[in-house]
Amino acid sequence: MPSTAEVFLPFHRALIEEEEKRAVLEVLDSGWLTTGPRVRQFESEFARFVEAAHAIAVNSCTAALHLALAALKVGQGDEVIVPTMTFAATGEVVLYMDARPVLVDCVPGSFHLDPQQVEAAITQRTKAIIPVHYAGLPCDMDSILNIARARNLKVVEDAAHSLPADYQGKKIGSLGDITCFSFYATKTLTTGEGGMITTHDPALADHMRILGLHGISRDAWKRYTAKGTWKYEILEAGYKYNLTDLQAAIGLAQLKKCDSMRNARARVAHTYSQLLADQDVFELPALSPGKGHAWHLYVIQVNPRSLRIHRDQVIEELRERGIGSSVHFIPLHLHPLYQNRLGYRPGQFPEAEARFDAALSLPIYPDMTDAEIERVVEALRDIGRRFRS
Ligand SMILES: Cc1ncc(COP(=O)(O)O)c(C=O)c1O
Repeated sequence: MPSTAEVFLPFHRALIEEEEKRAVLEVLDSGWLTTGPRVRQFESEFARFVEAAHAIAVNSCTAALHLALAALKVGQGDEVIVPTMTFAATGEVVLYMDARPVLVDCVPGSFHLDPQQVEAAITQRTKAIIPVHYAGLPCDMDSILNIARARNLKVVEDAAHSLPADYQGKKIGSLGDITCFSFYATKTLTTGEGGMITTHDPALADHMRILGLHGISRDAWKRYTAKGTWKYEILEAGYKYNLTDLQAAIGLAQLKKCDSMRNARARVAHTYSQLLADQDVFELPALSPGKGHAWHLYVIQVNPRSLRIHRDQVIEELRERGIGSSVHFIPLHLHPLYQNRLGYRPGQFPEAEARFDAALSLPIYPDMTDAEIERVVEALRDIGRRFRS
């Protein structure tokens, strides 16, 4: 077994280099710390990068999803279809609007929401669908967009994991009505905390921009500049969701290397897949034709038939060998909020429960060395040898 005295290999390590540090110092020297020219530049470069007409920077993907539903006027009594296999944010924003998150299960053998179940879950009250491009692999967007168009529903993509990713040659960020990205510390582009909304619809873009800064009339951020005016109008009750220039400066530096960081993660993923191919105790992530994977996560399944120990113990075994790992996600319907407030019960979404029970996310980040990848692989092989049933 490798020495436990070895340096701990974290589950995630952000790639922060000289350009991010320099960019932050420049903003500090400029004297303009909050939303300003760097945010506007980040928005326009991001929009170009994902081939969307408009991009609005916000302080999280949760804020982005909230503004999307607010701009689509989701309200009391409405329903929004959400995969149960997702993070808290995707469902809670529906509750912010006093609407009901209607949960659906995964496609068998996958972590993605099942379009057939989406169709079956639609009622007169359904307003929108929020597909989650889990791990960075796009959902079956043709089916989801076709279902939505036929029923006049909106599609808000939760793209927290999927920058950069593409579907049938189109960038994620350019497909649905609104797409929401995350720049949280562990994401594929990070600003510490942050997010971006993209859309082709100019009216929705304007509205989300206003709602994201107190419902104050456009260009309010300019009011402290030489060209600005002190006057402003509050148009509606908005939110304080703006990104700062300090964060945008980091984001701009990260965006420049977004493709190369993706390629570096893809290399880690392919190396894992090659080196673990002979391990029947672990099921490896599948690729899909026509889908460009962002490789935010590399999620394996611990095969309960060939390993004596549960996934939770595999995590402990990895930890003892100095390796961090994680689980994405505990399905929403297994949480007290969804059971007590919305009446969901364990057993309702068997595919998601089985996937969750066996899921294990391995370290994957751009600057992982061959030795680090091999260390993870060797630890898994060792666990496989010791605990085979
Ligand atoms: C699928 C998914 N959606 C939304 C979010 C929320 O992102 P943020 O932390 O930027 O609000 C996350 C964060 O982990 C996520 O994994």
